[in-house]
Amino acid sequence: MLIVKSVNELKEQVGVLRKAHKTIGFVPTMGALHKGHLQLVSRCVAENDVCVVSLFVNPTQFNDKNDFNCYPRTLDKDAALLESVGCSIVFAPSADDMYAPEEINNVFAFDFGGLDQTMEGVFRPGHFNGVVQVVSKLFKIATPDKAYFGEKDFQQLAIIRRMVRVMNFPIQIVGCPIVRETSGLALSSRNALLSEEERTTATFIYKTLSKSVALQSGKTIAEVKTWVTNTLNATEGLRVEYFEIVDGNSLKSLTDWSESEYVVGCITVYCGKVRLIDNIRYK
Ligand code: PAJ
Repeated sequence: MLIVKSVNELKEQVGVLRKAHKTIGFVPTMGALHKGHLQLVSRCVAENDVCVVSLFVNPTQFNDKNDFNCYPRTLDKDAALLESVGCSIVFAPSADDMYAPEEINNVFAFDFGGLDQTMEGVFRPGHFNGVVQVVSKLFKIATPDKAYFGEKDFQQLAIIRRMVRVMNFPIQIVGCPIVRETSGLALSSRNALLSEEERTTATFIYKTLSKSVALQSGKTIAEVKTWVTNTLNATEGLRVEYFEIVDGNSLKSLTDWSESEYVVGCITVYCGKVRLIDNIRYK
């Protein structure tokens, strides 16, 4: 496994692979890897000649400086995990190499077609501009045939699919299911910030979402939204930031179950000070 730390070196490596007609799969990450990330990497290894994984804590997608500073950085551990699942190239660039100085503070202009007007886009202003900015750069550098993203970041996946269409990237986007602990808690790099007690409390998020799926036959969307929000807010240590039931493609909020054949509930909950996101499919 090769560890590449500069943009130019990755471009050179990719050039060599392209000449040899190798297919390239790509998994963008911010590191602090867990089994959720490794599922994407294993699938990428299985489906491509070469698997490239980026480890880059992207400064332009953090609307909270403190969150950026506290984000765990564990390059050596990550590299060992990636080698164990068959990754070929780890790309770990510096921010100076990825960005010209004036790019860091400017908002990257992108027409989201409304996909950013809800949920994470509302509560983390500028977040998706940074995501599109970095992922479009990474795509240009790594030039993958396929790129792998988790359904855990449901809105991000929808936005990346749109980005590929609007910017005409010849890349197939592969969405992968959420990997959970046996307790149901969705794996996240931020789980490491939870105390033992909070970790137990956090399991109520998925337990409540799961129970709510069975309610759809007897309750309206508004009633299910209220039930989920009230149930979680009644649990000590949890505070719901938003819970939306949306069409899985347009991310538009639904008022009636019959409005869509692809219905997903997306939630963000504070467990103590830790912000956790999750989602569940209703149909
Ligand atoms: P990061 O949070 O490191 O996540 C990298 C990828 O792993 C994302 O596609 C995310 O959806 C996926 N992932 C995380 N936890 C998962 C889980 N429990 N099950 C399945 N997939 C999971 O998302 C980002 O980084 C960044 O925004 C990035 C796309 C790298 C741009 O900077």
